[in-house]
Amino acid sequence: MAKIFGKPYVTQEAMRTRIRELGQQISHDYQGKDLVVIGVLKGACIFFADLVRVIQLPIQMDFLIASGTKKAGRPPKMVKVWTELTEKIAKQHVLLVEDIVDSGLTAKFLVSQLHKHKPVSIEICTLLDKPAYREVAMKVKYVGFEVPPLYIVGYGLDFEQKYRNLPYLAKMDSK
Ligand code: IMP
Repeated sequence: MAKIFGKPYVTQEAMRTRIRELGQQISHDYQGKDLVVIGVLKGACIFFADLVRVIQLPIQMDFLIASGTKKAGRPPKMVKVWTELTEKIAKQHVLLVEDIVDSGLTAKFLVSQLHKHKPVSIEICTLLDKPAYREVAMKVKYVGFEVPPLYIVGYGLDFEQKYRNLPYLAKMDSK
């Protein structure tokens, strides 16, 4: 792996710093509120684990497994949700944690599904925001890093289900 993805695109140190800042902001914004933090698997698994540990509130956690049909190229896309929530989110504030918001279709679909459970609010926190390919208007309140239209792997993000375990973010190398 190190040979293919020699140089980190975002280092572990930069990520630690930014995630700590996000945790502080979220802790401040949801002070005194009931918050359920929902991780979107598989991509957000590592970011989620880091983020919840720097949120200084008694949150609840839940997960959804979602996937799209898209690969590194850009064919049309449908979102499939493989699991259901195990916690009740009615009358709770919800923070949906994503790995990357690209076209915005996944986030938009998940938010529309979650609204059916009648939460008080739903916001999105994403490690990466790639606005260049946005297809639907999406309000993303918490963004780790805005990235240009590159294909990124590592830190939970995959290419054909591999490289999620790379401990930093790397640009997909075509060599
Ligand atoms: P969206 O629905 O187009 O916003 O895509 C969101 C999903 O596409 C993410 O949760 C990722 O699984 C995948 N994705 C989009 N861009 C990248 C990337 O650069 N690297 C890895 N996965 C990506």
